[in-house]
Formats: sequence, C-alpha cells, structure tokens
Amino acid sequence: MVTASAPGKVILLGEHAVVYGEPAIACAIERRARVTAERTGDGGLTIHADDLSLDGFTVEYEGGPDGRPDVDVPAALLEAGMGYFEGAVAQAREAAGAPAAGVELTAESSIPLGAGLGSSAAVTCATIEAVTRELGVELDEREVADRAYRVEHDVQDGNASRTDTFCSAVGGAVRIEGDDTEALDGVSHLPLVVGYDGGAGDTGALVAGVRSMREQYDFAADTVETVGDVVRGGEAALHEGDLDELGRLMDFNHGLLSALGVSARTLDAMVWAARDAGALGAKLTGAGGGGSIVALDESDDTATALRYTQGCEQTFRAELDTEGVRVE
Ligand code: MEV
Repeated sequence: MVTASAPGKVILLGEHAVVYGEPAIACAIERRARVTAERTGDGGLTIHADDLSLDGFTVEYEGGPDGRPDVDVPAALLEAGMGYFEGAVAQAREAAGAPAAGVELTAESSIPLGAGLGSSAAVTCATIEAVTRELGVELDEREVADRAYRVEHDVQDGNASRTDTFCSAVGGAVRIEGDDTEALDGVSHLPLVVGYDGGAGDTGALVAGVRSMREQYDFAADTVETVGDVVRGGEAALHEGDLDELGRLMDFNHGLLSALGVSARTLDAMVWAARDAGALGAKLTGAGGGGSIVALDESDDTATALRYTQGCEQTFRAELDTEGVRVE
C-alpha cells in the first residue's frame, strides 16, 4: 500500500490565455490531495473518495464506465472526477507495464473540487504517483506532470494547458508557455490570500467559451494576447521582488478575464473587497465562473474583509508549497 500527495495551486497570472500559447505563472499552495493505492487481484478499479468536498461522494465501482454510482452531485462534476481517477490509473498501469493490474484507491483532499485551486491536477498527480509506486515503478516528477497533463487534456476535451499539472507535480512557482515548463527559482514567499465562494466552474466549458469568443472577435483575440503581455510584466516584477507592480498587474489581469466572460458576481465582489481592504492586487484564479480569487496582502486585512463579504464561503492564507508530488 502506498500513499502519495500533491499540492493544489493558484494561478498568479495568465489563466485561459495560456491555453493559446501565452505564458502563465502559477504557485503550488500548501493544500494537498492524498491518494492511497493498493494492488488487488481482481483486475478492477475501486475508488473510495468520501472527502473531496462533495457531500456523500463515496464511490465504489469496478471495471469500465458502466455501473456509475448513484450519488447526489452534478453529473458533469462526477463524470469529470471519475475521469481523472480512471485516466490516472490508466497512465500508471501503462507506465508500469501492468495493464491488467487491479487497484483500490482511497482519496481525500483539502482542496475544494472545481474551485480553481487545482484539485483535479492534484488528485491526478497523487494517483499516478501512488499507483506507479504500488506497481513497483518510480517516475520522476516531470513524467508524472506529463502523464497527468495527458489525463487532464482528455477529460477536458483538449481544453487544458500544462499549468495545473506541472505546478502540482513539481511544486513551487512555475512558468508555462506552450510545452515549455519551468520551475521559477528564487520565489520563496508570497503573501497570498484566497477567497472561495463555495461554487465550482466547469473548466472545459469555460475554456470552450473563451475559445469561441476569441474566434468570433478579433478584439477578444487581442485581449488574450494582452494577458500574455501582463504576464511578462508580472514575471519581471516577481523577479525584482516588486509586489506593488505584481499586484497592479493582477488587477489588470482580472479586468481582462472579466472581459473574456469568465468572472462571476461572487468573484468580482471578493476581488473588490480585497482591493478595498488594501490588497496590492486581486484577481480570480483558475478557470473562473465561480470558485476562488487570489489576493496579495501581507496583513490580515484582506482575509478579515473577505470573511464579511457576501458570497465568500471560505478564506485562508495560502502558503507557497515548494514541494510537488511526493510519497507520504
Ligand atoms: C485552469 O486552472 C486554468 C485554465 O487556463 C485552463 C488550463 O490552463 O488548463 C483555465
């Protein structure tokens, strides 16, 4: 039996645009998904996942996609959740050269599902690591990242970049641009505050929405390119330790994401509450549509303001996690 874990993430700058080859910067955060894998003799797949922030999400089934469990969560979210586990196990079986290995998984996560905090990437990375180790194979973190990306890409119908999976696999701060993935050394502390509205966005659908807007309007395509410019500016600010500038660019990035139609009333309310409280900058993080914002604030003022903001269900300080996927 092997237990592995992998961190969630916040995207500091560049979500959505990264899907079209612009750069993005993300940070792993100290909230993890943990998956225990045990080899079984029956050739099937059993999943126990009663703590993925979905009430009653305990799933037990064997074999293929038939015999889906009857649980009280939106079908799309359940489909996607199961898809990540199934895809991760398929990748692990392939990596281990054991296509018929039976596997029993137990998963728990302190990252809410669909909240823009990288829960699916974390679950996928942790599952690949736990199952490959249980099957006697050790992958380096870049291979875990690559296999996890293939899973996300499939489950999200091609609407995925390498951002979440690479960040979760290697930890720390990372830069993604197309297939180029880079760990950003020298970033050890960022005063990140997360506000979460308790909701979930459908990443595949949100990415598809931006895609069609970009195809329909040249100015939407220009907006995506402008996000790339903002990220390049943010990268320089991060390098120089200029948090004021980084914050201003986060604000700008949120405006561009709003224009692309992926913000939400709750996200805007939390962004404005953070700014009013004196945050250096605030923006939605992840796919949007609901979920989370990330703000920069060294003081407790943003977290306090978010606690009193209508629509904010949870707020916490997100410490940068320098470690990626690991065996527990
Ligand atoms: C999701 O966390 C970030 C998106 O840019 C999609 C992706 O990069 O895969 C919206």
